[in-house]
Amino acid sequence: MNVEKTKDKQDYLFKQVYEYVLNHIERKEWKKDDKLPSVRSLADQLNVHRLTVLRAYQLLKQHNKVYVKDKSGYFVSSEQSVDPDNTDLPIISAYSQKNHLSDIHQHQVEYNFSQALIDPNLLPNQFLSDYVKKVFDLHPKVLATYSTVQGDAELRELLSLYFGKQYKTPLHKDDLLITSGSQQAIHLISEAFVKPRDTVLLERPSYSAAIDVFKARGANIATIDIDQNGYDLDQVEREMKLFKPRLFYLNPTFHNPTGITIPPEQRKQLVDLAEKYKCLLVEDDAYYDTYFDQPPPLPIYTYDTAGIVIYVRSFCKYISPGLRVASIICQSQATMKSLLSSKSLTDNGSPLLNQKIFLHYFSSLRLQQHLEKLRIALQIRKEIMEEELAATNWKWQSPEGGLNLWIELPNGVSTQELYTKAIENGISFVPGMVFDPLEESTSFVRLSYSYVNEKQIREGIRRLVDITK
Ligand SMILES: Cc1ncc(COP(=O)(O)O)c(C=O)c1O
Repeated sequence: MNVEKTKDKQDYLFKQVYEYVLNHIERKEWKKDDKLPSVRSLADQLNVHRLTVLRAYQLLKQHNKVYVKDKSGYFVSSEQSVDPDNTDLPIISAYSQKNHLSDIHQHQVEYNFSQALIDPNLLPNQFLSDYVKKVFDLHPKVLATYSTVQGDAELRELLSLYFGKQYKTPLHKDDLLITSGSQQAIHLISEAFVKPRDTVLLERPSYSAAIDVFKARGANIATIDIDQNGYDLDQVEREMKLFKPRLFYLNPTFHNPTGITIPPEQRKQLVDLAEKYKCLLVEDDAYYDTYFDQPPPLPIYTYDTAGIVIYVRSFCKYISPGLRVASIICQSQATMKSLLSSKSLTDNGSPLLNQKIFLHYFSSLRLQQHLEKLRIALQIRKEIMEEELAATNWKWQSPEGGLNLWIELPNGVSTQELYTKAIENGISFVPGMVFDPLEESTSFVRLSYSYVNEKQIREGIRRLVDITK
């Protein structure tokens, strides 16, 4: 018997049981003080060993998700985060959805390090408003017209030529679908390809609003660690083999929150693994153009010859969040057909006016000038934040692009406590737990340097460091 293999399998089963129970608690199917199924009955139901269930229950207890009553078994703990909108109406409480990031962004603060958004002063506002006028001159009936579901043909043509030239992989305009931001793209993908209890692979940590989308869809979540070396491809293969996931959602370039970029050699191998195990790769590339010195490696989709990759490219972050223009590239007709159905059921196509304004800006020379200036401004802000943190014993890897520092706080600093104190002092950041698909506490926090100006970065970080003292 291969002992290592058996141990791995037990580890994964245990994780699955843990998540199964947690899902029920989060969806309020099992409420505060409800008794969990006995170890024996859950083991029988899930067809796993009793020790596997016991181990999962013990970890849930350690994480305060459940508690034990002498001789009576395990019960749902009262320490779940309290949802102010919670209600006793089962149709609402059982299916309550969460967007942890947007909850954090509700706080009005003076020093905003929680928004991975670019300072509106750094975006091309003046030029975009000039294009608005131009679009109405060119297309007087633009507001009286629907876009097609797939998106404006002229825009798709332009983008297919742009990507084809940039990455030397020819595309047809019908390989593109215009969406209202990449958030909608993630949502459409989950609707089209994930059914409740399907397994979805997510990076750990991962973009929080994607975690929330897949969880709301009822997916079982399995995780792949991401660190400065990228992924452990053996782990990816093991999980693909064991769980047969429908898809792996990844953000391989200037990853949110860590800033990591997956090296080129792993990109090709990932496509091979995805093909072998028939697992869609959903490559979310919201930050590609926000590099400081060197452009990042080619996107994963450029290695794909079998139509296994769905590429999501947003332009919201660094051109115009308000226009909400993003694009999906997908070279499998069958996949595109499913996405088009989802898109038509969602909104029948993104607003034409936004697409036309974006088109005129995107095809102008202004775009490259804007990106060049923006990269310098972002790099300066990052360096200022790093300067202010240099005297602390906080740890981070300086990113080569993107909008965030992913910081490990010293032992003994509770990120939750710091968060509460910071908000009281008018400073926001995102505690690392929000990015953990398994929601375990961590000593990491995400600080975004892109939203506030240089002076505010200096003042806000000084205050934050003072609070930790
Ligand atoms: C990795 C990632 N994907 C998607 C989004 C959503 O962006 P948008 O819907 O504005 O394109 C974000 C925003 O923070 C993000 O960080």
